[in-house]
Amino acid sequence: MSSRIEELFLSHEGNRIDKWEQYIKIYEIELSRFAQLERPVSLLEIGVQNGGSLELWGKLFPPRSKIHGVDIDPRVAQIEFSNPNIRVDIIDGTTDAIVDLLAGKDFDVIIDDGSHVSKDIISSFRKCFGMVRPGGLYIIEDLHAAYYETLGGGIFEEHSAMNFLKKLLDAMHADYIDQDPINAGADLEFLHRYNRVVGRVSFYDSVAVIEKLAKPKSQPYRRVLSGEVSTTVNASRWLEALPRPQLGTMLLSSVAGQQLDHALISKIEELEGNLKAAAIRYESLESDMAFLRREINQNRAQAEEAKAALKKAEMAAVQEREKLLRIQELERATMHQIIEELRGKAARAYNAWSWKVRAINRLKASRQL
Ligand SMILES: C[S@@+](CC[C@H](N)C(=O)[O-])C[C@H]1O[C@@H](n2cnc3c(N)ncnc32)[C@H](O)[C@@H]1O
Repeated sequence: MSSRIEELFLSHEGNRIDKWEQYIKIYEIELSRFAQLERPVSLLEIGVQNGGSLELWGKLFPPRSKIHGVDIDPRVAQIEFSNPNIRVDIIDGTTDAIVDLLAGKDFDVIIDDGSHVSKDIISSFRKCFGMVRPGGLYIIEDLHAAYYETLGGGIFEEHSAMNFLKKLLDAMHADYIDQDPINAGADLEFLHRYNRVVGRVSFYDSVAVIEKLAKPKSQPYRRVLSGEVSTTVNASRWLEALPRPQLGTMLLSSVAGQQLDHALISKIEELEGNLKAAAIRYESLESDMAFLRREINQNRAQAEEAKAALKKAEMAAVQEREKLLRIQELERATMHQIIEELRGKAARAYNAWSWKVRAINRLKASRQL
């Protein structure tokens, strides 16, 4: 069964529309809820060309919906529209000119179908996402161009529109990014600005849809528990291990709350038992420690005494050694004196003996004469 958009698209007459085939299904998914509203819708399309798409939106959305197109091509100003609620302006959709032109206006849907140059896609998003109403959509068409080198893209091109959209995904998850060295250098201002308002970044073939939250996020999302039966994972177990801040923001349904109350009460009782046992162990350790402290003090006094005795003995040994050295010195001097005396005696005896020998020889000689 063909969708309303498909019918409108295929039966369209007049100004030419230029879309890819898969977009019909994508727009059916993304725009049906706006088409069914009971109030006029407002849509902005960057890139008008022949103006057919503006006419299509005019037919799709409820009566009196405002369809606004901008294009840099001045010929676009000559396009004729039968729908009086379609308006076009010749203006660059990537500069502040569009912000000035549309100041104070907001849109349920903004479609970027402009130059498809990566830097233009990024620039238009930065300028225009603020004009999307809460709950509205910012749609980027022909994103395959983000892989074309000629349009400033490429799979490894840091500044491609795809990489920018990846950064939007990072922003959506900014609450979970640790402020550790690995993430140092991240553009925190960018991350937090979009974190508050980006509710969804969806990718289709060649199309990205960024949904603005109906209500800006004022705090990180919280975890919610419901139900009371935990056959596999016992919630009270992992709740214990949860970081305090996350535990503080946890939401519980009343059934889950009651079950967790029981679980937590028995956990508290178990912990109380553990605490009592620990207190008993602590007391016994305290008395062991007091005993050891006394032992240490006693041993320390004995060690001090032994140290003093050792010192005394060492001093006595030194004195004894000095005494011994003095005695040795004295004995050496006495021996020296005795030897000298004996040497003197021997010399004198020898002199006396040699004098006698000479006298005898002289006597012998005189007798022979
Ligand atoms: C792919 S066509 C638009 C097709 C049209 N939306 C449709 O669905 O039939 C791209 C248009 O974007 C316009 N364009 C290119 N750069 C632009 C810019 N910086 N601001 C506004 N329009 C731009 C071109 O002049 C061109 O008309």
